[in-house]
Amino acid sequence: MPTTEQALLGNLVRQVMGDALGFLNAAALRVAVRLDIAEHLASGPRTPTELARLSDTDPGHLARVLRFLAMRGVFREDEQGAYQLTPAAELLRAESPMSVRSMVLLLTDEMYWLPAGRLEETVQTGTTVFNEIFGGPLFDVLAREPHRADIFHTAIADLSVTEQDPIAASYDFPDTGTVVDVGGGPGGLLHAVLLRNPGLRGVLFEQESVLTQHRLGDPAIAGRWEPVAGDFFGRIPTGGDIYVLKRVLHDWDDRDSLRILRATRQAMANEAKLLIIDAVIPSGNDPHPSKLYDLAMMTNFDGKERTRAEFDTLLAAANLRAVRVIPTPGTLSIVEAVPAPPAAPSAPDEAEIR
Ligand SMILES: C[S@@+](CC[C@H](N)C(=O)[O-])C[C@H]1O[C@@H](n2cnc3c(N)ncnc32)[C@H](O)[C@@H]1O
Repeated sequence: MPTTEQALLGNLVRQVMGDALGFLNAAALRVAVRLDIAEHLASGPRTPTELARLSDTDPGHLARVLRFLAMRGVFREDEQGAYQLTPAAELLRAESPMSVRSMVLLLTDEMYWLPAGRLEETVQTGTTVFNEIFGGPLFDVLAREPHRADIFHTAIADLSVTEQDPIAASYDFPDTGTVVDVGGGPGGLLHAVLLRNPGLRGVLFEQESVLTQHRLGDPAIAGRWEPVAGDFFGRIPTGGDIYVLKRVLHDWDDRDSLRILRATRQAMANEAKLLIIDAVIPSGNDPHPSKLYDLAMMTNFDGKERTRAEFDTLLAAANLRAVRVIPTPGTLSIVEAVPAPPAAPSAPDEAEIR
């Protein structure tokens, strides 16, 4: 009979070995999405042999991947040996309202796993190997390789669909005025904000190539928004009452984030507000998804998720001041900031921002 201590140690060994093979979670999930297994199960349970015929794959190998995924709560094997959908598997379907299908395809793409395979080098040098592998920073690669841009922007736009309404509902937007969404992607959040607040107008500020794929064609907001193409390291449109940076700063290191914040501050009137919508990493050892996403940002962009104190330091260096942090139902929080008074005590200068 093993002792309690031996049993606990055995569990720990299994846990650490499972973590070491964690890349196979991603690989199996990718197989399921690429083969449209969840779509094939939408009309009812199917055996691995049927699924293999539909997906033109080897039945034995497919059955083993399905058995593994069922252990993770994705699919479920019934007593007849057929597989069926679970709530997690539903999320892999394109038409699910909270679909993560395109996000799985992005996060399991070589743009993510190739640099992750060399994370040790990134930790040694303090900079991502993405640029070396793909010939430039991620957004430059997207600008010149349409198939990668399609994978990235489709996933980010679909992710926004899952979070934009709760975020729009979490902040008390004013009745009138203009919201400028800086790096707003195809405009999902702006759409949700304008729908909920009929007195507001919107500006979607983005790179030209992203603006052409905007999702703001809804007649309900027609005439209340305009697209403006540009570079958020350069001139950002003036005249906004609320500026939004959602999932933008986490793509950049502190130096570049400060450049974006300073450009935003430059555009803001003294009465304007800035909403940074990003994860805020809580202190302590408790699990929080931002701690994992932070590693993805480190791996691909030289970006980072930040703590409240790190946001405060960045904001102070851009002559801005955080007023409050508003949680939203998802992973993200809204850091509401305003221009700091002109005579603000010495803000940290760039040298302190690393
Ligand atoms: C992670 S996405 C977030 C998009 C959107 N805010 C959202 O949360 O769904 C970052 C966005 O920054 C945009 N972006 C990157 N570099 C930019 C630049 N120099 N000027 C303007 N936008 C830029 C990208 O096109 C992309 O849409």
